[in-house]
Amino acid sequence: MKKLIIANWKCNPTTLKEAQKMMVGLRAGIKNNKIEVVVCPPFVYLAEAKKVFGVGAVKIGSQDCFWENQGAFTGEVSPTMLKNLGVKYVILGHSERVMVMGETNEMTAKKVKAVLSTGLTPVVCIGETLEERNQSKTFQIVEKKLRESLKAIKKQQVGELVIAYEPLWAISTNQGLTCAPDDALTMALYIKKLIAEIYGRKAKEKVRVLYGGSVGSDNANKYLENEAIDGLLVGGASLNIKEFTAMVKNI
Ligand code: PGA
Repeated sequence: MKKLIIANWKCNPTTLKEAQKMMVGLRAGIKNNKIEVVVCPPFVYLAEAKKVFGVGAVKIGSQDCFWENQGAFTGEVSPTMLKNLGVKYVILGHSERVMVMGETNEMTAKKVKAVLSTGLTPVVCIGETLEERNQSKTFQIVEKKLRESLKAIKKQQVGELVIAYEPLWAISTNQGLTCAPDDALTMALYIKKLIAEIYGRKAKEKVRVLYGGSVGSDNANKYLENEAIDGLLVGGASLNIKEFTAMVKNI
């Protein structure tokens, strides 16, 4: 299986001009198909992303979406709209949406279902807080979020999923901490074990599990050393196009 590297630009940059510049840099830097590269800019730049990347090596993702396809839902963006813009991947349940916007596992589950039935690939984020880790609740929290977020998913759909293990304490080095590659591996294996338990062994082989949280060119390969980690979700370091493209080339 190809490694999957997803760039999550979060709420950056602030102008279309800057976004265009970043996209053009990314297009120039990512040419081969050895690694699957997905960029997730803010919604407002997705149409531009389609123009810049076309059918090239870089695929397009979004950072969220709504669970209905159209109607009276002010401010929301639907999976069908995204599909029609050339989006292939949708990040869902990201910890910033959970912590800042109050998204619940139930809401994430509805989004996962809608995204899958539109033919897009959900990237479901799962991880624990530092407090939960210190209380030895990591496995319990990860299992709860996984089961609740995938509640509406049928066995035959599960192969389309991507899961990202993202410990909250290691995101954006918020608390000055990084997750040791061995700990990331333990959690990737645990997530795969849960998938096998819930959906069977075949499903486990198809689902891709990524690691995310303060990944950069200095540590990317350490996380990818073990085959069980199928890729990376990169936030901050993906905004520096030179660093990001160098990182991908070195994998
Ligand atoms: P980070 O973010 O790489 O800046 O830690 C990762 C993420 O939140 O997806």
